[in-house]
Amino acid sequence: MERLVVISNRVAVPKARGAAGAQGGLAGALNAALKDHGGIWFGWSGQESDDSDDTDCNIHLQRSDGVTTATIDLSSRDIDEYYNGYANATLWPLFHYRLDLTQYERETAKGYERVNELFAECVSPLIEPDDLIWVHDYHLLPLGERLRARGIKNRIGFFLHIPWPPTRLFVSLPFHERLVRTMLDYDLIGFQNDEWRESFLHYCRKELGAEVEEATGTIRFEGRTVIARAYPIGIDWDHFQAQGQTDEAAHAEQRLLSSTRDRTAMIGVDRLDYSKGLPERIDGISRFFDQHPECVRDLVFIQIAPPSREDVESYQHIRALLEQKAGQINGARSEVDLVPIRYVNRGYSHAELFGFFRAAKIGLVTPLRDGMNLVAKEYVAAQDPEDPGVLILSRFAGAAQQLEVDGAGAVMVNPYSPDDIAQAIGLALDMPLQERKARYEAMIGTIRADNVQAWTDSFCSDLAATRPD
Ligand code: F6P
Repeated sequence: MERLVVISNRVAVPKARGAAGAQGGLAGALNAALKDHGGIWFGWSGQESDDSDDTDCNIHLQRSDGVTTATIDLSSRDIDEYYNGYANATLWPLFHYRLDLTQYERETAKGYERVNELFAECVSPLIEPDDLIWVHDYHLLPLGERLRARGIKNRIGFFLHIPWPPTRLFVSLPFHERLVRTMLDYDLIGFQNDEWRESFLHYCRKELGAEVEEATGTIRFEGRTVIARAYPIGIDWDHFQAQGQTDEAAHAEQRLLSSTRDRTAMIGVDRLDYSKGLPERIDGISRFFDQHPECVRDLVFIQIAPPSREDVESYQHIRALLEQKAGQINGARSEVDLVPIRYVNRGYSHAELFGFFRAAKIGLVTPLRDGMNLVAKEYVAAQDPEDPGVLILSRFAGAAQQLEVDGAGAVMVNPYSPDDIAQAIGLALDMPLQERKARYEAMIGTIRADNVQAWTDSFCSDLAATRPD
């Protein structure tokens, strides 16, 4: 089996592991992939370097638990322009269909290109001729081209963890064509589902005039051949189940059950991000209480939302808005012995989340747009098969394509509609055990089988099979 070189913006260096809620699904997924294949994980340490302007290739190598990580610190200018700027104030909102929040600044675009070039410079000496190279996410779209310019001839794959926007939105990005051309230096490009893959193929055909074979996802352009396929990411099933057996998980479950007593707990766990539909979710809960005031004493909603990307203005706004909304509903609906919404700004370990999920009879996962959303899968994976809770899921999450199963599976909602969310909560509260079990059964097979190991294996074996010549 070829050695794997994983390159992503963030690297789960050993000391940072464990804060699952804050890190998102990517970190856990890549850790598992590297343990299976062996190799190196290269990226930003998350730290700021001493030099505020320039970053150099001062690589910090660490080996732990079978995984070698190679990280660099970034200068404050690079963090500002590349991470806070182009990646998270331009690409992230645009790719989540939020043109209203998208900023187009030439300086940050230059910073993005500079850091991609720097990544190529620093990682190239670590690459051996037979390595499979796997680049991740929107921070590093042009990295393949930068590596090729340095003479790297290895097979290089790219996986996009977030949606790819429709062509009509994407063309609002200055130099969009240049960006996509750089991506055609990869051998294989993976998307979370067919919807994003089709948008990408549409762009290549319509805007670049590339020759596109829909069925196989083959793109031919200026002598290059690239394959675009869907690889829905899964959870690390075995690891998560093992976490669920720990005392920490049992303690977390008991903690939630005893604090909610005879009230039904409903839970949401999301990075504090405007794409997650958090204010809209609170509006839906508020609508439910308006329609069913008699239920205020029966239901408690726990929203775990670790802060994220706090230097980006739109994230400061969403935080303020959420605090205001949670405050309003609590002010209007609380009693001396009752608070309807518990809003918690911190991350928890996987074991604790397992316990919380198991104690909560309803899981609310209602992003306005999401590449996949592994919380939806983890919520179901943590349920007691004999008495499972109900997952309420946005139809705009990538996970919807797997978890809506012929009218069974998750209860699907339009996250923009407070009435839809309110109705789904009512349905979940009244759902008989038999239906809850049937819905759980409809989802659990794919969650268990299409796990992160299967995702890694299928991407890596397809990558190894590219360019048979
Ligand atoms: O899934 C998208 C993603 O950007 C991942 O790459 C990342 O692990 C997660 O969200 C958390 O984001 P950040 O690294 O900006 O905190």
